[in-house]
Amino acid sequence: MRPTSVLVGSQRLLCVFVSVCVPAVLASLPHALPWHVSCPVRCVCQIKPWFSPDSAYHEAPTVDCNDLLLTKLPLPIPPNTHTLLLQSNLLSELDIAVLHGLPNLTDLDLSQNRFSQVKKITQSSSLSSLLSLHVEENHLTHLPEASFSSLPALQELFLSHNNLHSIAPGAFNGLDFLLRLHINNNRLTTVEPQWFRALPRLEVLMLGGNPVEALPERGFLALKSLRSLVLGGMGLRGLAEKALEGLDRLESLSFYDNLLTKVPTQALKRVPGLKFLDLNKNRIKLIETGDFRDMIHLKELGLNNMEELVSIEKAALENLPELTKLEITNNPHLSYIHPEAFLQLSRLESLMLNSNSLSALHKHVMLSLPSLQEVSLHSNPLRCDCLFHWATEEASHFHIERDTKTDTQMAHTVRFIQPQATLCSEPPELRARRVREVSSREMAASCLPMIPTSSLPFYVGVKEGGKLVLHCRALADPQPEIYWVTPSGLKLGPALSLASKGLRGTCLPTSKGFNHTSTSSMSTKPVRDRIPCIPFKHYRVLPEGTLEITKITPSEAGLYTCVAENILGADTRTVTVGVRRKERKRKRAMAANLNVFPLFRSDVRLEVRELGEHYAILYWQHGHNHHSTRLSWQAIYSNAHMPTYTTRILAGTQSFNLTHLQAETFYRVCLHLGISEGTKHVSRRSRESRKPQCVSFRTKDIPESQPSLQLSPELTSTAVTLLLLAFILLLLAGQVWDTELSEGVGKFRSSPLQDITCPKALIINQKTEGSNKHLP
Ligand SMILES: *[C@@H]1O[C@H](CO)[C@@H](O)[C@H](O)[C@H]1NC(C)=O
Ligand SMILES: *[C@@H]1O[C@H](CO)[C@@H](O)[C@H](O)[C@H]1NC(C)=O
Ligand SMILES: *[C@@H]1O[C@H](CO)[C@@H](O)[C@H](O)[C@H]1NC(C)=O
Repeated sequence: MRPTSVLVGSQRLLCVFVSVCVPAVLASLPHALPWHVSCPVRCVCQIKPWFSPDSAYHEAPTVDCNDLLLTKLPLPIPPNTHTLLLQSNLLSELDIAVLHGLPNLTDLDLSQNRFSQVKKITQSSSLSSLLSLHVEENHLTHLPEASFSSLPALQELFLSHNNLHSIAPGAFNGLDFLLRLHINNNRLTTVEPQWFRALPRLEVLMLGGNPVEALPERGFLALKSLRSLVLGGMGLRGLAEKALEGLDRLESLSFYDNLLTKVPTQALKRVPGLKFLDLNKNRIKLIETGDFRDMIHLKELGLNNMEELVSIEKAALENLPELTKLEITNNPHLSYIHPEAFLQLSRLESLMLNSNSLSALHKHVMLSLPSLQEVSLHSNPLRCDCLFHWATEEASHFHIERDTKTDTQMAHTVRFIQPQATLCSEPPELRARRVREVSSREMAASCLPMIPTSSLPFYVGVKEGGKLVLHCRALADPQPEIYWVTPSGLKLGPALSLASKGLRGTCLPTSKGFNHTSTSSMSTKPVRDRIPCIPFKHYRVLPEGTLEITKITPSEAGLYTCVAENILGADTRTVTVGVRRKERKRKRAMAANLNVFPLFRSDVRLEVRELGEHYAILYWQHGHNHHSTRLSWQAIYSNAHMPTYTTRILAGTQSFNLTHLQAETFYRVCLHLGISEGTKHVSRRSRESRKPQCVSFRTKDIPESQPSLQLSPELTSTAVTLLLLAFILLLLAGQVWDTELSEGVGKFRSSPLQDITCPKALIINQKTEGSNKHLP
């Protein structure tokens, strides 16, 4: 039978990995025939269909004495009994003489009885024709040496769900023909390589459900014929590089329900023949670049039910020429799949991505899969904007396939699984609409960065000296850049080529804006040459947006803000990080009545750096990252009350070009270092101390030579209002705004004054205030 989905419960999983689904097989069989023989009382004697472990069909004389509360073997058992079923009784030993009289006994089922010693079963001289022995759900605790030597023909041995905590090194000696061994769900804490020396033909091994935290290196070296290995539910935290060595014929491998935090890439390299791999229900956070590379026989991969998985990184799956089915479902925090996550998956037909936290699937993902036939995306918080154009019905013919024989391109449609449940959840006007029924005209053309809600927690606690890892991801078109702002206001971007300079750390080209010394020495040299690259040795920002801080200190606790920014705008998300002091220090700190969080001081100074006729460049410096920062401004006239305008400021920004001002006018500008309502860690004192910082100035005069329109103050105020209104309208007409902005930013990028302006702040999507809108 074709191994199918590997995502559901262990029952089905077992079925997949053992490649025989008993109920399914039985259902399709001919019925039992009567067997005219003197049958033990209350038992049923029939000729029943039976399949040997190597799938040969038999008409087996069967004595069925299941569920009879028997304490000893029922009599008389017909001598040519082939299958003897004694499941769910109260047996704790067998009458040797009785079994001795059954030379053709092939299948003995003693599951759910009371055997506590295996010798009570196997001491009965030789059962030379027994192929299958079921002793599941008994009370076995130990397997001594050569436990099964009286069963030389045995092919299947089922010992699962006992209390086995020790197995002698030679316990399986003599089982030269054993094909299948189930010792799952016992109490084994180690796996001994010696057990398997006696099992050169073993094809299926179920070891799961034993509390083994680590597998030995080369532990399975003797299992040259093994095809299927199930290591589910064991508490494995990692895998030694050579743990799977020698499993040359292994085709299916399950790590279902373990504690793996990374894909065991190195160990998997030792099993090149692998076709089916199940990593479901582990603690893997990221599927990283190269995690699955060159597994040239892999057909199906399951990465489901992972509570902690947040991201599938660039080139996470690469060169898997046989992969036809990929399941990444039911991962509640999976919000990001890199546009180039899947490379060279030329035969992938089925991509299951339902029930995650994905807001979109980048078009590149679809374009990179030439054989894709079906995709499931339902039960995701899908955002129907430009990233999702490809998914609309009219756009669905995008999928071009190159016919290798004729070298012509053929369009084929990718089928959506459950299209009626594949709904937009953003933007609000398209909520609950079926993705396939939204026309691409209805989907916004802009793709502002969006950091998914589920990708970052609100609070993270770390021990002093521990490692802080925060994964921030955002999808947008064009791809956004991601940087972090630390509690002290430090802006951290992906590492430049510091490694080459022998420095391992992170700094941004724009970090000069945050160092007063270097800002004041602005020159016209290209920015990169002037970076005062302070090696923040224990900080690291990875290109995809992960912030890593090693050996964190209590003074680094506070607000961390992730900013995802592209030319269209930005999105931010804030995480409060608490650092637990070491015990000794904590006592001292408490005695000194210190707060774990640094106190906010009113140390901001707002200044005007440059004045024009219609603009003013404001600069401020403060030592902290805040939940939200706003700038407000107001024209000042002696005889009129003027409206106040405000804008949000992007985290990590310390300057702003206030534009559209009126010439020859007094203004008052204030900086409000906000704090969102939900913040608990701020004392009343610090709240009070944070009064807005204000400056006043007068915009420049318009040069005499230029003819200028003199307006009365009242008219001016109207003009300002109208101007701002027009500006807001512009904002709302996203298209126009985008173009303008991208031009503006293009200049802004190349200018040596690059960190002085920040028009983008106007469309920042400040999540900390609970808003999901992209435009104010
Ligand atoms: C065991 O099986 C063989 C071959 O099928 C048969 O000839 C023989 O009579 C059987 N033995 C008994 C005791 O029924
Ligand atoms: C600013 O840069 C100078 C040298 O480039 C450095 O000595 C100084 O410590 C920096 N100041 C801050 C606050 O980072
Ligand atoms: C600030 O904005 C004004 C008006 O848009 C512009 O003329 C000026 O060059 C900007 N200044 C900087 C430093 O970008």
